Amino acid sequence: MSRIRVKGGYELSGEIRVEGAKNSAVALIPAAVLCGDKVLLENVPNISDIGALSEILACLGVDVSRGENSISIDSSKMSNKIITCELSSKLRASYYFMGALLGKYKYVNMCFPGGCSIGERPINLHLKGFEKLGATIEENDGNFIIKADKLIGDDIFLDVPSVGATINIMLAAVLAKGKTVIDNAAMEPEIVDVASFLNEMGADIKGAGTPKIEIVGVDELHGATHSVIPDRIEAGTYVIIASLLGHELKVSGLVPGHIESLTSKLEEAGVKLEIGKNYVRVDKVGSYKAIDVKTVVYPGFPTDLQQPLIPFLTQCHGVSHVEETIYENRFMNIPDTVKMGAKIDVVDNTYASIHGKTALVGSDVVATDLRGGASMVICGLIADGVTTISNVGHILRGYQDIVGKLKNVGAKIEIVD
Ligand code: EPU
Repeated sequence: MSRIRVKGGYELSGEIRVEGAKNSAVALIPAAVLCGDKVLLENVPNISDIGALSEILACLGVDVSRGENSISIDSSKMSNKIITCELSSKLRASYYFMGALLGKYKYVNMCFPGGCSIGERPINLHLKGFEKLGATIEENDGNFIIKADKLIGDDIFLDVPSVGATINIMLAAVLAKGKTVIDNAAMEPEIVDVASFLNEMGADIKGAGTPKIEIVGVDELHGATHSVIPDRIEAGTYVIIASLLGHELKVSGLVPGHIESLTSKLEEAGVKLEIGKNYVRVDKVGSYKAIDVKTVVYPGFPTDLQQPLIPFLTQCHGVSHVEETIYENRFMNIPDTVKMGAKIDVVDNTYASIHGKTALVGSDVVATDLRGGASMVICGLIADGVTTISNVGHILRGYQDIVGKLKNVGAKIEIVD
C-alpha cells in the first residue's frame, strides 16, 4: 500500500479548488436508481468511495459510465440482487441501497455497511423508519432482508438527527403511498442536496434543511441532471491548512455559509480570513490563541472537521479543549500527533485538552481513518522534517488528489510505494 511523504514547513501560495461533496454524492448515486431512466450527476469527486458504489451498481445491472467529474447512471436494465458483504463493507454509504431498493422493489437483501471505525455507528434509526413505513426486517449475522407488501407514509421521529437515517427514510418514502413526516431530521446541506435531486426526478419533498421534512409519495420518478454541492469538509480541511501555512492562499469553489462554524472559530483564534462569495483566502499566517470546540450536528461544528482541527490547535497559544459528542472513537489520530511532539490529554475518549504552542517533528505515522488521515497530513505539513503516513487508502476514500492539490500550492509532498 502506498504512503504519503511530506517535508514540512513550507509556505503555501496559490489556489486550491474544492470538489463535489463526498457525503452528498454517495447518497445521490443510490438515489438515482429509484427511477428507471438515465441520470447524469455532475461535480462528482473522483475518490475511491465512488468506485465502490459503482461496483454495487454494476452488480445490480445498472449501466454506469464515469467522466472526469461526472457519472452517468442508466437503470433501465436494472434488477434487484443481493448486495454481498464484500461489496457493502467497502463504505458506509452502501446503506443507502437499503432505502433505495426498498422504495423501488419493496425488497432488499444486503449486508451491514462498512466505513471508518470511529464509533459503534448503529443503524437502528434507519430500520425504525423502514418499519414505520410498513417494512419487516430480518437480520441474520449482519445480513438484512427488508421487505414490505406496500410502503405507506407515516410520522417518524428520530431520537437523534442522523444524516444517514434522514436520507435513507427519504429514499424509502418518495415512492410510498401517502405522506411521510420526518421529525428531528438532520439538517446538513447534503440532505438538502439529496432532496433537491429527488424533487428534480419528480418527488414531492418539502422542508429539507429544517428539522421537519414532509414527503408526499409519487407513483414514479424520472431521469434528471444534477450537480453535486461543494464538499464542505474538504473545503474546511484546506481552510485549516491555509490558516497554518497560507501566504496568499485561496480555497475556492466552496459555500462559505456551509463552513461558518469553522471560519468563526478560526477567526476567534485570530486567523485573518478573507471570505468571498465562493472562496476563503488567507494572506498571512499570524499568532493564534487557544479556543474551545464542541462537535454537534449542523449547523454546529462538524465532527468531520474535529480531527483536521487538532494540528491547528497545537499551534495556538494556551490550552484548547475539544469535546467530541457524535462518535465514541474519533481521537485515533491523537497518539501519533503526540508522537510528533504535541501535548494532548484525553479524558474518556471524548474530551481532549491541547496544550500549545508546541513544535511538531516529522515522524512515521498512520492514517487510522479518513479524517484522522487528513489530520496527519496537516501535522506533516507543519512539522519540522519528514513525515511518512501509511494506510493512506483511508485518505483517498474522501479527498480527491490531495497530494497533487497541495503540491500545486508549494507543499513538498508525494505518494511513495
Ligand atoms: N446514530 C444512531 N442510530 C442510527 C444512526 C445514527 O444512534 O440509526 C448515531 C450515530 O451513532 C452517531 C450519530 O447518530 O452518534 C450521528 O450519526 P449519523 O447517522 O448522522 O452519521 P452517518 O450518517 O453514519 C454521516 C457521514 C459521516 C459524518 C456523519 C455526521 C456519510 C456517508 N457519512 O454519517 O461522515 O461524520 O454523517 O455528520 O454521509 C466522514 O465523511 O468522514 C464521515 C464519517
